[in-house]
Parts: sequence; C-alpha cells; structure tokens
Amino acid sequence: MKKVLGLVVSNRKLGNSEILVKEIMNNIPEECSRELIRLTDLEIKPCQACYRCLQPEKACLVQDDFNFVIKKIREADALIVGVPVYFLGPHGYYKMLTDRLIGAQNHAQDTQGKPCVLVIPYGSKGWEGYTKAACIVLPKLLRMKLVDCWQIHATLPGESLLNPENISHAKVLGRELFNGREYQAGTQECPTCGSDLFRLLNENQVECPICGSTGILKNNGSPDFTDSDYNRFSDQELDEHFKGWLLEMKDRFADKKSHLKELQKGYRNQNWWIKP
Ligand SMILES: Cc1cc2nc3c(=O)[nH]c(=O)nc-3n(C[C@H](O)[C@H](O)[C@H](O)COP(=O)(O)O)c2cc1C
Repeated sequence: MKKVLGLVVSNRKLGNSEILVKEIMNNIPEECSRELIRLTDLEIKPCQACYRCLQPEKACLVQDDFNFVIKKIREADALIVGVPVYFLGPHGYYKMLTDRLIGAQNHAQDTQGKPCVLVIPYGSKGWEGYTKAACIVLPKLLRMKLVDCWQIHATLPGESLLNPENISHAKVLGRELFNGREYQAGTQECPTCGSDLFRLLNENQVECPICGSTGILKNNGSPDFTDSDYNRFSDQELDEHFKGWLLEMKDRFADKKSHLKELQKGYRNQNWWIKP
C-alpha cells in the first residue's frame, strides 16, 4: 500500500495550506495510508554545519524533530507540501527544513523520482516574491519529481474554498499524483526547474539562480534556454556537489584548520553577545 505524507508549514488551523493538502490527499484513487505533519508544531533547530550527515547514513545529531520528519519523508511514496508566502518568501520553517538537507544525497536514495506537490497560498496579488523559486529547492535536492508548484491566491483562513476551480485543481492533483504527471513550466519560467526568477547577465543573457541554467532573453521578454546544458539538480551535478566538492572541502578544512584557528583567535575575546 502506498504511503502519502502531507506536510503543512502553517500554524493556521484549517488554513489554506492545510485544506488544500487535505483535498489533494483525499482524492488519491490508489489505496494508500495518509499521514499529516504540521511542521510548525515541531521543533526544527538551525543546522550546526558539522557536515556529519554528508557521510552515508549518519543521522543528524541535533536534538530536535528533524530526524523524525526526514524519516517520514523518506518512507513516503509521495509528499504534498502546503507552505504559505510569508513576507515575499516561503514560511521560515520551510527554509529551516531545507537548510537541514546537507545529507540530501543519502536521503535521495529513498526519495528519488517520488512525486512531490507544492501548494503555496499567498494573500496579496503581486506579493508572491521569490517564494516559488525558494520552494522548488527542497524537492529538487531530494531528487523528487515535481508534480505541481501551485501558487494560489487566498488570503483568509480557508478562502481557497470559495473558488471551485481551486477544489477542482486539488482533486486533479490527487487523482494524478501517481500517474506520472509532472510540472510543466510556463513560458515565463525556467524550463529546467520551473522557477520564475531570473538573474540578468551581460548581453541579453539570463541565468536561473535556482538550477543555474542560462539562456537569452528574447525580444518578447521570454527566456530562451534551448542551448542550456547545465542543471545543478541533475544527478551528475548533485553527485559532484555533495560527493565531490563538499567532501573536498572537508579535506581542505582538515588541511587549513590550524592556520584558520590561529586567525580566529583574535576575535575570541570579543564577547559582546547578549541574550534576553
Ligand atoms: C506573517 C505573514 C506574512 C505574510 N506575508 C505575505 C506576503 O508577503 N505575500 C502574500 O501574498 N501573502 C502574505 N501573507 C498572507 C498569507 O500568505 C495568506 O494568508 C495565506 O493564505 C496563508 O496560508 P495559510 O492559511 O495556510 O496559513 C502573510 C501572512 C502572514 C501571517
């Protein structure tokens, strides 16, 4: 039996994230077990940057609920995330969770290719900010298949229910979750990862800051990425980054450690920290 995990990153009970995640989960035709996690009820501490989890199957040593959440994500056959826009980006707890994915290449052994839906309610048109781009990173690091990256305008708790089209779309996502459905980037989005943000480079060149692919800005304002052959989320690039570059940095640190400690010394006694 398939397992489906709903991850709600909002403290608002029966808010838009929760309702739409539930609507999608409720419409999955396959027999499946369903579990919900409200991330904001759990404790997710900052990454300690110890890099322990880079090693195969070394769990994070931070004493909080991250290991529970990632275990549940790994065990699930599909992940439905509901995460609202808070001040132009995703709810901060989503970023906290994303920041804990230094061990992504280990987790990806279980999550690779599994469907992931992102539901992103926002309250104010034009205030979506960089949320979509930022939300894509978590499923991409886990090498999941993005089924949808759905930004949905709904301000009040449950307001998404007022528009029947929203319910229809949620139902379709549930029905097609395991049908091979995949997110199709719009003409103004990065065709490689679906992000809607671009960095302007020289001479009409544009870069997707999320997947790193580059293209040109056509006269009609659309990005043309046909000649792009780079994608930081490809298996090859992710392997290179996590198994190559990051491990090299570990060796480089071992090499430079004593010199760096010497340089740091001068700052040790500047103890101006305050706490409440
Ligand atoms: C602290 C806070 C910041 C918000 N910032 C934004 C914003 O920058 N842009 C926006 O469109 N909506 C913003 N909203 C509105 C929410 O995204 C919107 O109400 C959404 O439906 C909440 O989802 P929920 O019901 O699942 O909690 C903000 C809401 C809160 C509480």
